[in-house]
Amino acid sequence: MKLLVTGGAGFIGSAVVRLAVARGHEVINLDALTYAACLDNVADVAKEPGYRFVHADIRDPQALADVFATYTPDAVMHLAAESHVDRSIDGPGAFIDTNVTGTYHLLQAALVHWEAVGKPDTFRFHHISTDEVYGTLGAEGQFTEETPYAPNSPYSASKAASDHLVRAWGETYGLPYVITNCSNNYGPYHFPEKLIPVVILNALAGKPIPVYGAGENVRDWLYVEDHADALLTVLDQGTVGRSYNIGGENEARNIDLVHMICGILDQKRPGGALHADLITFVTDRPGHDLRYAIDPARIRTELGWRPSVTLEEGLERSVTWYLENDDLWRALQNRDGVGERLGTV
Ligand SMILES: NC(=O)c1ccc[n+]([C@@H]2O[C@H](COP(=O)([O-])OP(=O)(O)OC[C@H]3O[C@@H](n4cnc5c(N)ncnc54)[C@H](O)[C@@H]3O)[C@@H](O)[C@H]2O)c1
Repeated sequence: MKLLVTGGAGFIGSAVVRLAVARGHEVINLDALTYAACLDNVADVAKEPGYRFVHADIRDPQALADVFATYTPDAVMHLAAESHVDRSIDGPGAFIDTNVTGTYHLLQAALVHWEAVGKPDTFRFHHISTDEVYGTLGAEGQFTEETPYAPNSPYSASKAASDHLVRAWGETYGLPYVITNCSNNYGPYHFPEKLIPVVILNALAGKPIPVYGAGENVRDWLYVEDHADALLTVLDQGTVGRSYNIGGENEARNIDLVHMICGILDQKRPGGALHADLITFVTDRPGHDLRYAIDPARIRTELGWRPSVTLEEGLERSVTWYLENDDLWRALQNRDGVGERLGTV
């Protein structure tokens, strides 16, 4: 297939690009190269004949029209977004612009293209979204695809809005779409402002490891390469007009996750004090959702997909990746706002 992947220089998008190219797909990677992007993430495939990079912004309708006309993709995998909750608290406007308005422009461009090529049933607009659209859970329960949307942060509200736009373009104009809502990803190339890289890199530097509130928040952790595999599975086998939740079947409280990472570092970088001694509790994020958990029944029973990486294995691989790729992440730490406490209102 010829895939137009938006946000392919970001964390998850680059994993999708690497896997799709490895599986023989042609890939057009469209990315605006914001602070969160890094073309080194796709360096392994950049010279492959089936790979193209287009520097463009999804808020630019003319650029999108040109890309569709030039490359005539068979499917769109839409990952481009502003993705950091803390930044959405400080500056929600960028999240509305890219995640809502940008998705609208991409839908319009995809629709014009789909109509121009004769409305093939095989075309897909695959929108990649988050479990955060469902809001928060208490100690019990899981999000299913029927859970009502109740987003609590500007980020999750903007993603919820984009999910609704995608659905509407399917219902109103017939654009063949699938939506996926996944849990928290982690793994190689994770941008150093997100929880797991912050823990690893602060621990390595001997700096305080910030844990929001009491560290009681629970997330379901999905290894990014498992996620990329799930996305290609849904693209290939998912039913048009349906959404699929994707989880890692790896629930953990933040404080337990941090202790697991510190334990791995104690083994790989022994000497001196225990890394867990660096844990420092800081003021909680406003509106911090307590717990997310995914009911994986639909993707498992309908598409036969399950995650393959346990949290222990995934964290081990992630820590190893950061230890071996100093040059890649160090440059990103100088980017705007990285390493600062954001989103405290
Ligand atoms: N990271 C997670 O745990 C997680 C969980 C659930 C869902 N998601 C969703 O998955 C997608 C990818 O997340 P990520 O963590 O890889 O994000 P990321 O922030 O690492 O990457 C986003 C990419 O999108 C690009 N981009 C941003 N604005 C753009 C614009 N206007 N035009 C073109 N490109 C633009 C950036 O340059 C960057 O390369 C997002 O849609 C996000 O909402 C992420």
